[in-house]
Amino acid sequence: MTLENLLEWRRTYRKFDENKLISKEDIEDILNSIKFASCANNRQYLRFISVESKDKVLEIFENTKWAASLPNNIGRPKEGERPVYFIAILSDEEKKLRFNGIDEGLVISNLTLLAAEKGIGSCIIGSVNDKKMREILNYEDNYSCDLVVAFGYPKVKSSIKEINAGEDQAYYLDEDGNYIVPKYKIKDLVRRI
Ligand SMILES: Cc1cc2nc3c(=O)[nH]c(=O)nc-3n(C[C@H](O)[C@H](O)[C@H](O)COP(=O)(O)O)c2cc1C
Repeated sequence: MTLENLLEWRRTYRKFDENKLISKEDIEDILNSIKFASCANNRQYLRFISVESKDKVLEIFENTKWAASLPNNIGRPKEGERPVYFIAILSDEEKKLRFNGIDEGLVISNLTLLAAEKGIGSCIIGSVNDKKMREILNYEDNYSCDLVVAFGYPKVKSSIKEINAGEDQAYYLDEDGNYIVPKYKIKDLVRRI
């Protein structure tokens, strides 16, 4: 796949084949992409928990919210469709920089793109509660977790659809249950001078 094709494929997926596990080697490769991410002042303050055991994966899943734009009975993965792997992103509350969110975004981009190259889909989840994540993952006091990334082999497709500025950008499902993600036209987002 060209990088452009990969970027296009790397959409958000919310329905996975729960019977298809991600191999240890692929998990290793996904985690390895962390080291290629740029970060402010190269400080590398973020930490990660690779959630591989089924029990913990399901516990995290139970404490995540999915697809705010869709009714819960449609957007939330059902049994058999749940993710099989999570990476939790931990921020160091004491050392947090102004650019923390940018560091998180860049590293998540690496993780999800590396996974996408292997046909593994992902969903970035911001709707997690640090207190709950701490109970499940048991990390040190100075860290907090505001983001986890869910992974699995997608059971549905997702594609973007160009829309005009001002049109509704909420994603939806087509009649086959595949995701359609409206995106504004580049000409409406970028001013060229
Ligand atoms: C910071 C961030 C937080 C997100 N949190 C959630 C979430 O809690 N639950 C969810 O289902 N999707 C979540 N998403 C996925 C977005 O809804 C998704 O990226 C958006 O609809 C665009 O779809 P696309 O990723 O296919 O372009 C999040 C995405 C980002 C970047």
